[in-house]
Amino acid sequence: MKRNWWKEAVIYQIYPRSFKDSNGDGIGDLRGITEKLDYLKELGVDAVWLSPFYKSPNDDNGYDISDYRGIMEEFGTMEDFDEMQREMHKRGIRLIVDLVVNHSSDEHPWFVESRKSRNNPYRDYYIWRDGKEGGVPNNWISHFSGSAWEYSPETDQYYLHLFSRKQPDLNWENPAVRNEVYDIMDFWAEKGADGFRLDVAGMYSKREGLPDGAPQKGMVGAEHYQNGPRIHEFFREMHKNVMSKYPEMMTVGETSGVTVEEAKKYAGFDTDELSMVFQFEHVKLEYVDGDKFTLRKVKLPEFKAVMSKWQRELDGTAWNSLYLANHDQPRSVSRWGDDKKYRVESAKMLYTMLMTMQGTPYIYQGEEIGMTNVIYDSIEDYQDIQIRNAWQERIVEKGGDPEALMNAIRYIGRDNSRTPMQWDDTVNGGFTEGTPWLKVNENYKKINAAQALEDENSIFYYMKELIRLRHENEVAVYGSFQEYEKENEALYLYNRELDGKNLFVVLNFTGKEQPVAIPEGIKGAVSSLYISNYKNKDALEDRILRPYEAAAYLWTK
Ligand code: GLC
Ligand code: CA
Repeated sequence: MKRNWWKEAVIYQIYPRSFKDSNGDGIGDLRGITEKLDYLKELGVDAVWLSPFYKSPNDDNGYDISDYRGIMEEFGTMEDFDEMQREMHKRGIRLIVDLVVNHSSDEHPWFVESRKSRNNPYRDYYIWRDGKEGGVPNNWISHFSGSAWEYSPETDQYYLHLFSRKQPDLNWENPAVRNEVYDIMDFWAEKGADGFRLDVAGMYSKREGLPDGAPQKGMVGAEHYQNGPRIHEFFREMHKNVMSKYPEMMTVGETSGVTVEEAKKYAGFDTDELSMVFQFEHVKLEYVDGDKFTLRKVKLPEFKAVMSKWQRELDGTAWNSLYLANHDQPRSVSRWGDDKKYRVESAKMLYTMLMTMQGTPYIYQGEEIGMTNVIYDSIEDYQDIQIRNAWQERIVEKGGDPEALMNAIRYIGRDNSRTPMQWDDTVNGGFTEGTPWLKVNENYKKINAAQALEDENSIFYYMKELIRLRHENEVAVYGSFQEYEKENEALYLYNRELDGKNLFVVLNFTGKEQPVAIPEGIKGAVSSLYISNYKNKDALEDRILRPYEAAAYLWTK
């Protein structure tokens, strides 16, 4: 398998609004990031993926861009960006910027023009259609509730927005749009960026005729634009026109709804599309009928089946990315671990899994200190447009059950991971001296970076060790994957192998002691402990895993 820096890298995601406020206005900013680079250096990450920092009216916190070459005023200036990037590079940390080009802001000059008249030169930059039978052009539903179409009285037509009405979808069928995107990419590449994270990258290509979607509770229409008909052609063109000029750069596409077969095309070793994609299967398992706010309990074998499938099936042909949280997902320890009694153990266990799988691991800010979901009392405390719109539609307009929706929001809502980074135990967790744009999680007094840095048994230092080990053991990065006891409802057991070097991993996903049987052929061969989240005990010796225990062993065939 070809070696690349981005296969061996561990990437840290920063959501700038919530990371560090340097000037007391309650909003994280670029200078705040620069201040904290030594912290990231200490952790040992190789690159930062920075969520959008471009000019934006902030309908969706920067994922609605009005100037792709300008810096959001609240975040700072282009000089601040240059300094931040310089300081990252000085520390050997690469920078991956977010490219949000499925849609722009409705305040982008292209859209301001486009909506003016049907024959405006920018009309075809967006997707305009006549209404049907006095209503919207089709039945597609926006990710942020309601129809995906907005009526525009100026021209008596509707425009498509898969997200908010302030995020009109760009028309990728139009070559002029694609060339604009390539110019934007050149701009940031020439400024020194080391990669792009492509926002909703799987949604650029919509099926011709925009047919109605099959009825379901959530996301009606998705089958007509997720991994759409021309998507691979677009990425090959992007590669040819842009990425081939920068062979050291990487790309990661956000591809909700991607299958293994599709991923092999997007991220195949010889397909000239993207370096890797984010798959969504493990984070959508809980959805009922495609609806994010209607959830079910998932048993461990189902979760393992998804994780293992991606491990096995991309091996040797395409590259995985690995994540347990990001700015759209809740906190991993609250979702798959225990964010109370075994918070530290279970957070360590989860990242032992992530960091011993094939693919590029992404750590979302705060995961390295085991930050948890937040419990706000009132819907008013939430800022996320997805949460607010869902409440408006389901409770205010349709009279649904507020308790049920509130529970779903507390479990899966996006603000769970967007609460300000908890730096220390001073007011607002040391995030800001002003009023934070989103309330801090009350538990900052106990869970914060300063505390973690003082405690040698913290999640932070465990994560640091996992990163160091990964850098020193190619088997953790490139090794093949074999699973044992697939039906075990408590444990996840697997072995990685590269050229006779092996890494055997045992993980307890429960808060109870669990017996473990070591597979034939491994038991006697284990030569050294790789890592363990419990001290002074060898899980293989007494064959009992303590609550959320994780251990990994090196051995040679
Ligand atoms: C992606 C982003 C999310 C955003 C959406 C629309 O899913 O990660 O935060 O709301 O795209 O840009
Ligand atoms: Ca600020």
